Amino acid sequence: MPTPPSSSHRAHPQLPDGVVTLSDHERHARSLLDESAWAYLFGAAGDELTLASNLRAWQEMTLLPRVLRPLAGGHTRVELLGRTLAHPILIAPMAYQRLAHPDGEHATALATAALGAGLVFSTQASAPLEEIASMFLREAGRGPLWFQLYLQHDRGFTQALVQRAEAAGYEALVLTVDAPVQGARDRERRSGFRLPQGVAAVNLDGLRAPAARPLTTGQSALFDDLLCHAPSWDHIAWLRSITRLPVLLKGILHPDDARQAVACGAAGVIVSNHGGRTLDTAVSTASALPAVVQAVQGAVPVLVDGGIRRGTDVLKAIGLGASAVLLGRPALHGLTNAGATGVAHVLRLLRDELEIAMALTGCRTLADAPDALATVHPRPRPPA
Ligand SMILES: Cc1cc2nc3c(=O)[nH]c(=O)nc-3n(C[C@H](O)[C@H](O)[C@H](O)COP(=O)(O)O)c2cc1C
Repeated sequence: MPTPPSSSHRAHPQLPDGVVTLSDHERHARSLLDESAWAYLFGAAGDELTLASNLRAWQEMTLLPRVLRPLAGGHTRVELLGRTLAHPILIAPMAYQRLAHPDGEHATALATAALGAGLVFSTQASAPLEEIASMFLREAGRGPLWFQLYLQHDRGFTQALVQRAEAAGYEALVLTVDAPVQGARDRERRSGFRLPQGVAAVNLDGLRAPAARPLTTGQSALFDDLLCHAPSWDHIAWLRSITRLPVLLKGILHPDDARQAVACGAAGVIVSNHGGRTLDTAVSTASALPAVVQAVQGAVPVLVDGGIRRGTDVLKAIGLGASAVLLGRPALHGLTNAGATGVAHVLRLLRDELEIAMALTGCRTLADAPDALATVHPRPRPPA
């Protein structure tokens, strides 16, 4: 394990009694972190309304259970990009995990692999991508290992990063498209958040900042400088041309963007609003998901993240046509609370809750999940 960063975190080796849900994990994590680490890790943009509506949208969706159906031999397996996964839960890409715990991404990877979940590793991680891949790929029962990419202003650097990810054994690229600029992270600014010594985006070492463009009066630092480097649809073709890996787009909310993603050759789309960390008052992901599923017409898998906190949320997402879900903050709550043990506990809780929810709604497998929803959503079946 790497040396600990100068700490924002009061280490707590073991989970206390009474932590039996993901929200218990959140409450406990709150007591261990200082205000500014909390603001970075768990805050969101603006008034944090999208963060709240992501949670509420799943909570308000109701289930209509079926009874007396045969359940023996049931399972949570799903097909995704040509693989059979033990269950449909992946860990979302999240930057700077050493803020949550000194073991950071190493602990998350260890727990995720052991629990058969998928891992999406962030470009802005605070651990080397090769170390995480070799640790993750060693586990026989592991889920998929994907690399989340932020396109950098320097194409050569981006290409080299993609090549490193390929060489290390990552199996897909997840291009995040909803953050051409950072959202207005007010909580973070109020707290005076700064990365502590020892926590850095180590996979971006060597990347030079772009030369600032001289602005004339009336020009905008955003539109006339920063956004000149922002990714566009044209970059998808470029990215596909430099990699043999499938490319999924993360941060799709509009059905027309989902159609365009498919037309550009994306291997999948992830319905996401970045957990409310980019555009506040953006629609909740649960409300955006059905139209995206409809638009994609089964051509590629649709995944979703944002506000998943219960097994029932996972069941609802699959019922609406998602092939799998990504779990964000709760994994970092578990990490904060007890390192790898905490992440593993969070994943175990969520999977157990999913199985209970399936049994109580009469779903023997996740193919039955649409039947569990109280409201019928017309949709094609997602592909394998
Ligand atoms: C601390 C933190 C860091 C994140 N870093 C990234 C990142 O580097 N790349 C990315 O695509 N998304 C990033 N996200 C967004 C997550 O991948 C995911 O979309 C979101 O957290 C899901 O919502 P949830 O936290 O409610 O589960 C980050 C989220 C958090 C909380």
